[in-house]
Amino acid sequence: MIYANALCKHFDNGNLEVLDNISFHVDDGDSIAIIGPSGCGKTTLLYILSGLIRHFSGTVTINEKEIKGPSRKTAFILQDFGLLPWKTIWQNVCLGMKINGFSKKEQNETAEKLLLNLGLLQHKGYYPARLSGGEKQRVAIARSLALKPEILLMDEPFSSLDTFAREKLQNILTKIWQANHLTMIIVTHNIEEAVFLGKRIIVLSGRPASIKTIINNPDAGELSYRTADSFFATCKMVRKMVEDI
Ligand SMILES: Nc1ncnc2c1ncn2[C@@H]1O[C@H](COP(=O)(O)OP(=O)(O)OP(=O)(O)O)[C@@H](O)[C@H]1O
Ligand SMILES: [Mg+2]
Repeated sequence: MIYANALCKHFDNGNLEVLDNISFHVDDGDSIAIIGPSGCGKTTLLYILSGLIRHFSGTVTINEKEIKGPSRKTAFILQDFGLLPWKTIWQNVCLGMKINGFSKKEQNETAEKLLLNLGLLQHKGYYPARLSGGEKQRVAIARSLALKPEILLMDEPFSSLDTFAREKLQNILTKIWQANHLTMIIVTHNIEEAVFLGKRIIVLSGRPASIKTIINNPDAGELSYRTADSFFATCKMVRKMVEDI
């Protein structure tokens, strides 16, 4: 579904090389976790995949079409939630639908269903300031899913959460991913998160990022995997690779 081919990116008039010949593909309905050292170029890579960065060499094709800019089919969830503080949870969730001309009926039905699924319906009249970090992130997820994307790009979406909130949201995310047949790419610093969520795990080198290895991890997304011996073995293997960078 997504093909990234020979992606290279420089900043500062070519003086700062950030991505070095990155190629990979993602199948429809698959999930990829990307892990690599701070500053290596992970966020830059997601921006390229989302269509927000236009100047790079190489190509990205989605469903056989080369991307030329952002698309409604691709949702991008950022680390800092991006919620509008002066709008309520309900208004935040409806915002993208409103901008994209969804009918009032569709906005109401979609927002109600998503907030219910994410356990936030009782907070719909609150402003973001009243919510915990985990709740804010759930609103950001609801807002992105409201547009019925096919692809979900996430940049360290749970990094500000404690372990309990993080694992709860990971579980919710796997349900949403499977129920909606989404294709996911998640950037994370957290090894357990990469192994729990990524059916393939891309390990990047330090800057300029190149692909060090791609690990197949077919049990990702199964709730029982979290406590399986194979899960811990894979975490150990990824840890070793990350430590060697
Ligand atoms: N718009 C920009 N202009 C110039 N340099 C930039 C720009 N965006 C990012 N960089 C630089 O490119 C490098 C990679 O940044 P990027 O944000 O992609 O890293 P990252 O892997 O996501 O890091 P982290 O794990 O800390 O989030 C960094 O050195 C950063 O300073
Ligand atoms: Mg980043």
